[in-house]
Amino acid sequence: MEPVPLSEQVPNPLRQCTPDELRSRTSAKWRGYPPDVLPLWVAEMDVHLAAPVAEALHTAIGRGDTGYATGTGYAEALAPFARERWGWRVRPAHTAVVADIMRGAVELLDLVTEPGDTVVVNSPAYTPFYRFVSRAGRHVTEAPLTPDHRIDPEALARAFRAAERGRTPTGRTAYLLCSPHNPTGTVHTRDELTAVAGLARTYGVRVVSDEIHAPLALPGTPHTPYLSLPGTEDAFALLSASKAWNLAGLKAALAVAGSAAAADLERLPPEVSHGPSHLGVLSHAAAFRHGGPWLDALLAGLDENRALLAELLARHLPPVRHGPHEGTYLAWLDCRGLGLGDDPAAAFLERGRVALVPGAGFGSGGAGHVRLNLATSPEVLEEAVRRMASAVG
Ligand SMILES: Cc1ncc(COP(=O)(O)O)c(C=O)c1O
Repeated sequence: MEPVPLSEQVPNPLRQCTPDELRSRTSAKWRGYPPDVLPLWVAEMDVHLAAPVAEALHTAIGRGDTGYATGTGYAEALAPFARERWGWRVRPAHTAVVADIMRGAVELLDLVTEPGDTVVVNSPAYTPFYRFVSRAGRHVTEAPLTPDHRIDPEALARAFRAAERGRTPTGRTAYLLCSPHNPTGTVHTRDELTAVAGLARTYGVRVVSDEIHAPLALPGTPHTPYLSLPGTEDAFALLSASKAWNLAGLKAALAVAGSAAAADLERLPPEVSHGPSHLGVLSHAAAFRHGGPWLDALLAGLDENRALLAELLARHLPPVRHGPHEGTYLAWLDCRGLGLGDDPAAAFLERGRVALVPGAGFGSGGAGHVRLNLATSPEVLEEAVRRMASAVG
């Protein structure tokens, strides 16, 4: 690879924010707990905006360009990013802009299942998977990951068979895949996803692949877009710049249909296009189109932080098992060796004044675990692990 010219090098985004700046933020991460608590819980990052994203927003605001979203700009910005990074061809004609990933997931599941049908998830799974799917009137069935956090084809086949037995003559089963996986940070391999595609075909299961963390696959473990694999033509994927460029407050995401699912996507009710915000679409598109160098600097910083976390845990909390840390900025910590019971996050919060996400909310396999957000400065990470250690024993 050609060396990046010095003028284009972006400094580590995780080292730019001052503590005062972070404390002055009004979004969930820094407002969810009292000021003496160090927050490493919700998936927001302690970064400034990537310059091209900030510029797109400033330009829009300067022009008063704050009306409704329209057009295929989001898909046209994602397409070259997906081609260059993952060798995947996104056809803008087979996409739809949605308000965010979770509302997109509900809308896609609504296209291919009926109330009362089953949606399979891999536990432990991102908590809203359970909540949004149940609220949409579908049953959630868990297919647990293996003990080392890989997709277990046998567990998946069992879940698909159970759903098949339980369904009405007109019922359908769907599978909400999380790729890369939250909370474990697993980046599913091409072989694992190929096995998933085979099972989905065998059991007639429609797959919705949540790839919000795709740009955050860390060095050494490339992301494989589900729709880039053969045999996934009737599946959907959901992509967004929200996690990788810290844009969760700027609502937008993209639903992408495989070639045999494009007709289903056309049945998306027109009201759905009312959800995404215009500033969301503009900022996400700027991120995919021009935010590559910033993303690379972020990934290098996250790579350093995961090594630092491993070192800190080995030094201060050796019984904690962790990993695989292949993607996302979320670390999944097995704290069962610490003797803090099913909810170690409660002890870390009460005694160490550090906020992590309790594992139990992620379903089966979550008790005794916590999820830690390592998208912060090395100093904050170090302080957090010290505080966690002070809560033990
Ligand atoms: C796997 C996964 N899906 C969806 C979301 C939420 O995305 P959105 O805010 O676009 O609904 C998150 C947020 O952390 C996530 O980790």
